[in-house]
Amino acid sequence: MTTKYYTGDCCEVMERLAKEGVKTNLTVCSPPYQELRNYKNGCVWDMPRTAKALYDITCDGGIVCVNIGDQRKDFDESGFSYKLALEFKKHFKLLQTIIVVKDSIIFGGEQRLANQHEFCFCFLRGEKPRVFNKLMDRPNKQAGKWSNKVIGRHGENDELKKGEGKFLVAPFGARTSVWSVPVGFNKSAKETCAHEHCAVMSQHLALPLIKMFSQPGDVVLDCFGGSGTVPALCGSSFSEGQKRDSVYIDISPSYAKLAKRRVKEAENRAMREASQATKPHSQPAPTEAFPRTPSNQEAKEAARLILSYQEAFQAP
Ligand SMILES: C[S@@+](CC[C@H](N)C(=O)[O-])C[C@H]1O[C@@H](n2cnc3c(N)ncnc32)[C@H](O)[C@@H]1O
Repeated sequence: MTTKYYTGDCCEVMERLAKEGVKTNLTVCSPPYQELRNYKNGCVWDMPRTAKALYDITCDGGIVCVNIGDQRKDFDESGFSYKLALEFKKHFKLLQTIIVVKDSIIFGGEQRLANQHEFCFCFLRGEKPRVFNKLMDRPNKQAGKWSNKVIGRHGENDELKKGEGKFLVAPFGARTSVWSVPVGFNKSAKETCAHEHCAVMSQHLALPLIKMFSQPGDVVLDCFGGSGTVPALCGSSFSEGQKRDSVYIDISPSYAKLAKRRVKEAENRAMREASQATKPHSQPAPTEAFPRTPSNQEAKEAARLILSYQEAFQAP
C-alpha cells in the first residue's frame, strides 16, 4: 500500500499528474463549503476547474464522490451543493446522490428547522461504474419471514417490474441512498490527532464509499485531503492484499504534515489490533455505537446466509 502526498492547489497538482499519465479509480473528497469553516490558509478553490481536472485524472468507469453542504444566511440557503452537482454534471454522470444524515445537529434558530443533512454526490466518468460492491448491511425488520414479491422500480432505468411468488427475507438487505453517519470527536476518526483539523470527514462516510466503489490495488484520491481520512482508511481498514493505494493533495503544508502523522497512528493501531486478534482468549474489539457498521465477519456471514436462504428454500 502506498500513499503519495502533494501540497499545492489541487487543480494544479491534478493537471500535472494527469499530464504525467496518472489515473485514479476513485475520489472521495469534501471541498470547503464556501466560508463555513475557517481553514488555516484562507483557501479558495475553483469549482469548474476542479471538476475538469478530476474528470481528466479519473479512469473510465471511475467514481468521484463529493461530500458537500449548504451555508445558510439571512434565511437563505446558498444552494452551493446544487450548483456543484450541476457543474460536475457538465463532465460526469450523476450516478447517485446520498443523503448524509449526521447524528449531531446544528441548531436551527427560532424560525427554521435544525439542519441535520448534507449531500454526497457520486459522479461517474464514462458509461457505467467499473466497480460496485453492494453494501449488505441494512438489517431487515422482516428477516426470516416470507414475503410476497411486489411490483417495484427494480430496473437500471427505474422501470416497473412485477415480482412473482414469495421469498424468505434475508437478515440484511442492501444499503439505501440515505446514510446515518456518526460525526464528531471519537466518532469521525479513530485517531485523536485528526481532530486538529476543523472539518474531518467521518470515517463512517468515507470507508463505505471506498468499499463500495473500489477494489484492492485501486488508487483512491482525496484532492482536499485535510486530516488524511482517505489515506488513513486505505492503509489501516483493510487486511493485507485488500488494501488500496491513495493520493493525498492539500493546499496547506501543515495539514499534509498532520495527515502523515495520522496515517502512521492508524497503521500502528491496525498492527496492534491485528496482533491482538491472533492472541488466544483476546477480547473482541468494542462495538461501535449508533448505527453500528457490521464487521467484515458479520457482513460475510450475512452474505453467506442470503445465498444459503436463496438456495435452500422454495417459497410455499
Ligand atoms: C473539508 S476539508 C477536507 C477534510 C478532509 N476530507 C478530512 O477528512 O480531513 C477541506 C480541505 O481543503 C483544503 N483546500 C482548500 N482549498 C484547496 C485547494 N485549492 N487545493 C487543495 N486543497 C484545498 C483545505 O486546506 C482543507 O484541509
